[in-house]
Amino acid sequence: MMVKQTIVRALVVSLGCIAIIALILTVVQHQSLVLPHRLQYGMVFDAGSTHTSLYIYRWPGNKENNTGVVSQALVCDVDGLGISSYAQNPPAAGISLKKCLEMAEIAIPEGQQTATPVYLGATAGMRLLQLTNQTQTEQVMEQVAKVIQSFPFDFRGARILSGIEEGAYGWITVNYLLEGFIKHSFDGEWVRPKGRKILGALDMGGSSTQIAFTPVDAVRDPATAADLKLYGHKYEVYTHSYLCYGKDQALRQLQAHLLEMSGLAKPVTHSCFPLGYNMTITMGNLYDSPCVAKPTWFDPTAVVTFVGTSDSARCLSHMRSIINLTACSFAPDCGFNGVYQPSVNGDFFAFSAYFYTFDFLGLTPQAPLPKVLTTIDTFCRRTWASLKTEYPNVKDSYLRDYCASAHYMRTVLVEGYKFNTTWENIYFQKQVADTDIGWTLGYMLNLTNLIPPDRPQVVTGVQRSQWAAEVFFIAFAVFLSLLVLAVLWIWTPNQ
Ligand SMILES: *[C@@H]1O[C@H](CO)[C@@H](O)[C@H](O)[C@H]1NC(C)=O
Ligand SMILES: *[C@@H]1O[C@H](CO)[C@@H](O)[C@H](O)[C@H]1NC(C)=O
Ligand SMILES: *[C@@H]1O[C@H](CO)[C@@H](O)[C@H](O)[C@H]1NC(C)=O
Ligand SMILES: *[C@@H]1O[C@H](CO)[C@@H](O)[C@H](O)[C@H]1NC(C)=O
Repeated sequence: MMVKQTIVRALVVSLGCIAIIALILTVVQHQSLVLPHRLQYGMVFDAGSTHTSLYIYRWPGNKENNTGVVSQALVCDVDGLGISSYAQNPPAAGISLKKCLEMAEIAIPEGQQTATPVYLGATAGMRLLQLTNQTQTEQVMEQVAKVIQSFPFDFRGARILSGIEEGAYGWITVNYLLEGFIKHSFDGEWVRPKGRKILGALDMGGSSTQIAFTPVDAVRDPATAADLKLYGHKYEVYTHSYLCYGKDQALRQLQAHLLEMSGLAKPVTHSCFPLGYNMTITMGNLYDSPCVAKPTWFDPTAVVTFVGTSDSARCLSHMRSIINLTACSFAPDCGFNGVYQPSVNGDFFAFSAYFYTFDFLGLTPQAPLPKVLTTIDTFCRRTWASLKTEYPNVKDSYLRDYCASAHYMRTVLVEGYKFNTTWENIYFQKQVADTDIGWTLGYMLNLTNLIPPDRPQVVTGVQRSQWAAEVFFIAFAVFLSLLVLAVLWIWTPNQ
């Protein structure tokens, strides 16, 4: 009787112990899965031709070989114009960045600031300044570096990106965000997505425009090829950046073209500007860019007045004179201006100014080409008065340019890049998963080795089955020892 009771008691106690141990282990295991990973941060300044933005990214920091998902934490728009506009006053370029750096100090936990890499990449605005004045270019880059270095972050350099880099990093960003390279699963593992699609990237800035995609056949002109190795897979990306063919420089070329065509008639008719809108500018301002060659009769103080006529058809035909569609030594594989380009392949994301322009016209993310053409045409026929009535809060300089920009972009896409039969493959997008599309994310991913060139191993921590086996083994061992103790105790003579 006594012995039986003791055995039952011992069994109950040991079962209880097992239950408690198993519970503790399960909780520990569960916690390690759901505990938020310590976040890491990284920042990139996008020093574009018209403005500068600071992108702050974050990702779970403890991922094996950094295969965690990077997302955008914050964007800060720098007040004022792009850094190239400070050519005459380089220290002001540095000072302009301070407000966003101070904001980053608030956004990033203090303990992590010194471990947060920060990069500055300048694009076509600075590439153009480099063409006109190397000294000023260096001074501006020095001043922006100096200011970033005065903050507690891990400054990793300020430099001017090449056009190839800008195109390739935009392409990396798109496909990273769409999980075209690898797909992240919840428990930190990754898989190569089945039937994955790799998309092309179309970027329209103020001073340059980029196209990047993986063509069907090998790239014939090595100057346009970017060979990338990402997660153990090789990609040959075709990419080209057209300097001076960003929206603002293209419209400047158009103005110079109109002025030269006018035979110095005053005023100059501008078929892309709305009827009722006039713009006066000095020749000095109009020709203040290496993208337009000064005519022999150039006079910097002479005043030019452009008078809008809302002439959509003529506006479109002028676009064909600023991009050269006949020069092509790689026929039929050509973009515009004689640049080699294999035929476009697969789906594309068109972002930055492409997105803003088409979004304003209600043509995002996708609209059939005939609808696009009639929408642009209808918009371009409207007078300034009717536009101002409908859009009282849109800045005049934007409202004035939407017609010209839309005709320009659709000419580049359809006639330049030859999306004539594949228009429906273009998606006009600004973001994927709350993260802006642009070159900055791809740039940071590459420079911080967040995309390893080699295949990462799948093993991250202890596998579930192995864990279960360990729990069972420990519990069984405890149970056995308790049983032995109980038996020994029973066999001990009673006092
Ligand atoms: C370049 O800029 C520097 C500093 O502003 C100026 O002294 C120099 O004359 C400029 N050079 C040219 C070629 O314009
Ligand atoms: C296009 O380029 C070719 C070759 O460079 C040139 O001969 C032709 O005049 C250009 N056409 C236009 C419209 O500028
Ligand atoms: C990415 O970075 C590596 C060096 O870390 C460099 O060799 C490579 O060219 C970069 N990729 C691109 C697309 O620039
Ligand atoms: C991480 O990368 C290093 C070097 O690239 C490699 O030797 C190692 O096996 C990788 N680890 C995992 C778990 O992928």
